[in-house]
Amino acid sequence: MAPYRWGLGHNGGMRSSWNETRTERDGGARDADEESHAEAFRQGTLPMAGTIRGGSRRVAVNRPVDKVNGMPTDLLGRDYETFPAPEPLHQHGPARVIAMCNQKGGVGKTTSSINIGGALSQYGRRVLIVDFDPQGAATVGLGINANAVDNTVYTALFDSSIDPHSIVQHTQFENLDVMPANIDLSAAEVQLVTEVGRERILDGVLRGLKPDYDVIIIDCQPSLGLLTVNALAAADGVIIPVAAEFFALRGVALLMQSIDKVQSRINPDLQVYGVLVTMFTKTLHCEEVLQRIYEAFQGKVFHSVISRSIKLPDSNVAAAPITVYAPGHKTAKEYREVSRELITRGIVA
Ligand SMILES: Nc1ncnc2c1ncn2[C@@H]1O[C@H](COP(=O)(O)OP(=O)(O)OP(=O)(O)O)[C@@H](O)[C@H]1O
Ligand SMILES: [Mg+2]
Repeated sequence: MAPYRWGLGHNGGMRSSWNETRTERDGGARDADEESHAEAFRQGTLPMAGTIRGGSRRVAVNRPVDKVNGMPTDLLGRDYETFPAPEPLHQHGPARVIAMCNQKGGVGKTTSSINIGGALSQYGRRVLIVDFDPQGAATVGLGINANAVDNTVYTALFDSSIDPHSIVQHTQFENLDVMPANIDLSAAEVQLVTEVGRERILDGVLRGLKPDYDVIIIDCQPSLGLLTVNALAAADGVIIPVAAEFFALRGVALLMQSIDKVQSRINPDLQVYGVLVTMFTKTLHCEEVLQRIYEAFQGKVFHSVISRSIKLPDSNVAAAPITVYAPGHKTAKEYREVSRELITRGIVA
């Protein structure tokens, strides 16, 4: 297999602009407080809003951050990339809608929705996670009790008199909201069948919310039924989490067929943003699986790979993104890196 070199040259010269340095406001050298603020932003360890404060020194905005040591990044023959810390946003919206989708269960859809959302919110992006799974795992994983709320995404789908804004719950994390789900949603699949425009109902719900967010992540359920079709119809693009295990690619062909059908019949602009490898361990087995995933998806495989770690289930239990629960942990760095990759590649603002 020919080695694949993935610089960002194909990305409209984006890389050269990242390489530039910029001059911060005039004044004395930055004090310790300002330095730690800027560092926290670069690391994504603090919720932040506003700009990086700085002294008169020239500050490299592309300083490599979060290099994850020891990851077998050359497996795919690609040069290791660290993606630069993003610039703060000065205006928000309209949101990019991303469906986190794989009909195979337990591959890390919910964990990736929460943690990519968490990392992006810490980079100052306004994030809405739409829990589109009756299991309600994303809702619980963000500390919201879906049985204690008046309305859920189910209400949003079927009661057009209710403003979707009133269904959104603010989490305790800055810039991170969730549209909750609970077991009610399991009835939706059957009820949708008789609805007019049944594939586009979620799209209609999200339309009014897009101006308020930079990114909306739909955490799909593990099936290719009408709910998932609604997610694909509402999305600008799909991220496919794939666990690095033997059966990883089973069923992915079916998912690609569904994406193709939605593209050709409902949502011609739908893109596949990429395949995110999750639950990776540094074993020969996982490395072979990674090779297979690469052979199947080529350049669509995200550069950033998520390791297997008990810290992620721990963070689910603690109802916090890993980037808040254990910001220095390897998997927190990896999720921050995926988030920066999304921004660098222009998928998220
Ligand atoms: N990188 C990881 N390392 C270890 N455990 C993980 C990792 N990612 C997710 N998990 C755990 O694996 C389980 C399944 O993950 P998750 O719920 O995110 O998958 P899912 O694709 O959303 O599942 P479902 O299809 O049921 O919705 C959870 O217990 C989660 O905490
Ligand atoms: Mg899930």
